[in-house]
Amino acid sequence: MDRTSMQERFGIIGTSPGIRHVLDRVRQVAPTDITVLIEGESGVGKELVAKAVHELSSRRHNPMLTINCAAIPEGLLESELFGNEKGAYTGAVERRRGYFEESNGSSIFLDEIGEMPLSAQVRLLRVLETGEYSRVGSSTVLYSDVRVIAATNRNLGQDVASGRFREDLYYRLSTVIVTVPPLRDRKEDILPIFESFRHKFTQRYNRPMRTLDASAQSLLLRYRWPGNARELRNLAEQTAVLLRSETITADDIRPFLRGVSGSGSEAGLLPVRTTGQVSKDPESRERGLIYGALLELKKDVAELKDSVGQLIARPPPEWSAPHSAQHTSLRPSQLGPHLESGSDESASPSSFMLDDEDSFIEDVAYEIEQGNGENGEDLSVAAAGSAASGQASGSAASGQAASGSGAGLSSSEVEIPSLEDSERRLIEEALKRYNGNRRQTAEVLGISERTLYRKIKEYEKSDAAEEES
Ligand SMILES: Nc1ncnc2c1ncn2[C@@H]1O[C@H](COP(=O)(O)OP(=O)(O)O)[C@@H](O)[C@H]1O
Ligand SMILES: [Mg+2]
Repeated sequence: MDRTSMQERFGIIGTSPGIRHVLDRVRQVAPTDITVLIEGESGVGKELVAKAVHELSSRRHNPMLTINCAAIPEGLLESELFGNEKGAYTGAVERRRGYFEESNGSSIFLDEIGEMPLSAQVRLLRVLETGEYSRVGSSTVLYSDVRVIAATNRNLGQDVASGRFREDLYYRLSTVIVTVPPLRDRKEDILPIFESFRHKFTQRYNRPMRTLDASAQSLLLRYRWPGNARELRNLAEQTAVLLRSETITADDIRPFLRGVSGSGSEAGLLPVRTTGQVSKDPESRERGLIYGALLELKKDVAELKDSVGQLIARPPPEWSAPHSAQHTSLRPSQLGPHLESGSDESASPSSFMLDDEDSFIEDVAYEIEQGNGENGEDLSVAAAGSAASGQASGSAASGQAASGSGAGLSSSEVEIPSLEDSERRLIEEALKRYNGNRRQTAEVLGISERTLYRKIKEYEKSDAAEEES
């Protein structure tokens, strides 16, 4: 199969030397049974690559199982992967087959392998070397013919040096390394990927496909893309849904980019649309602020949904273990009892979007932008309603009842939550999702760990202050 047909088949867009190199590598190693380690920042397309490796192998007739090692609580990963005997640990109420047993004859994709606890690493090394493993709590030797494809966004070499990752396993995994470069290092791929996603989303939401002007293109090319293709995809969805102008300019998209840190004038721009000069008129300033807050909220909710969607797509283990049952309700009915296999779009995070709520946000944003709020009161009510529905849709995706202050109140009583409150709620929600893992939480929220740490400290301080008073 040539490179172009591979790209069409797997939806891998790009003509950069980086992508071509990746594809050539995939084509070489896919038909073998060699373990492949895919390296690259979050959102660069590692999972697409893993699927391509599996689909181009002779194992393609069996579905590949995807396990996100970071999404499964440390103490459970071993039994999830290798199975357990009844009573092997508290809560192991029955004997359970592990993923290695289930994917016998197929491939297993171990995403975020750098998060794998050391004890599980020992078992993994053994199964890689000999095909042998045993269930947790049993000494019976079992055999599984599984091809392992692993991915990491960490520097595993560094983890080996610091003792977080076993050196022998690292050498075993790194026989073939496929490195997917960050988007900023393959600029020629940015616009084609963006346009393809925009095309998809304008169709999905039944919107016109608008033109990107030169300023917008140049901003996209200069931006750092910390979230890589995933962030590009989110931006394409947001622009498709939210933007109304005939052509899309740099000013239109700047508010969606995380802390645009470009040189000079762009540094430190507020995430609020700032075309024209800053207005002295308090009402339109308020409009601007609310509009900005809505966009931020929409963006945060989209990112949270994305992360929740990922958690769901690689379900945590609780359907077999009772201890964290709150996730069970998250599993969308269209997913099978086990794991996502293949690239079915219906299982993608976007399918958790509540379209009505989205267009409500959009309509309110539009009203505000047009200055149609008759007076400040009406405006804040409308905005509060939509902010609340934004939260509700985020919570719906996370399967938890909104504990928002709006519940049970009539709309005129609802107050618009402050940005800080919304931010805090999102941070807390994300922390919960990731079982308090700050690195992952920071990553999914697009802030640094240090910032997250600082925020948590601030919340603790203000809670303490409140208690005292
Ligand atoms: N080269 C590419 N062309 C088109 N879409 C891409 C490309 N790379 C990544 N994507 C998309 O970006 C998103 C993130 O990709 P994913 O494979 O999940 O990244 P990772 O596993 O590295 O975090 C997915 O929606 C994926 O389809
Ligand atoms: Mg991934």
